[in-house]
Amino acid sequence: MRKLAPSILSADFGRLAEEVAQIERGGADLVHVDVMDGHFVPNISFGAPVMKCLTGRTGLPFDVHLMIENPDAYLEDFVTPQTEYITVHQEACTHLNRTVQHIKSLGIKAGVSINPATSPSVLDYILEDVDMVLLMSVNPGFGGQKFIPSVLEKARKLRDIKIDRGLDFEIEIDGGATLDNVREIIDAGVEIVVAGSAVFKAPDIAARTAEFKEIVK
Ligand code: DX5
Ligand code: ZN
Repeated sequence: MRKLAPSILSADFGRLAEEVAQIERGGADLVHVDVMDGHFVPNISFGAPVMKCLTGRTGLPFDVHLMIENPDAYLEDFVTPQTEYITVHQEACTHLNRTVQHIKSLGIKAGVSINPATSPSVLDYILEDVDMVLLMSVNPGFGGQKFIPSVLEKARKLRDIKIDRGLDFEIEIDGGATLDNVREIIDAGVEIVVAGSAVFKAPDIAARTAEFKEIVK
């Protein structure tokens, strides 16, 4: 089953718990949590305390996307009973293997993300250790940007590698997903779809979630 992970980056933070309840009602599978530090990306979002406010207020698991430098120093902060994935950026990790093992030692699924201009070949020697690969389909830092289509070729390449090598990591895409391109995204082999503004800026968040979920299933 494919998963839909709406990103709370585009939510109204003053009504965060209510809006997350709406994506849950609409059938979302995960809450995508975009953490930005103003160094790795040119924007600051929020940290672990905000995510922890949702613990127990939603039944959905957390899909944590760390767009931060030195993620090792902060991993423990994001561990809650609802944290399912923690994803770090390959570009932010000098010792990626160590960081992936660190995440797994916390009992959390380990994801690695690459930016639009990064080749998936940088992941050749980590693929068998990761639970998920997150392909950025926009330059990270902001919601509401335009989808970069070359990521689809990367997704197809990764799906082929996965089959050839008999690996079982999941493939996630993040940035610029809309109702118009989401079918093409899943046809490229993507199993987890992130959608921020397309869900949270909709007039009816639960209904829009359900529309996405109708395709991402
Ligand atoms: C970008 C974030 C994405 C983004 C998705 O830096 O990692 O999760 O918020 O938002 P949309 O779907 O609006 O591109
Ligand atoms: Zn994200």
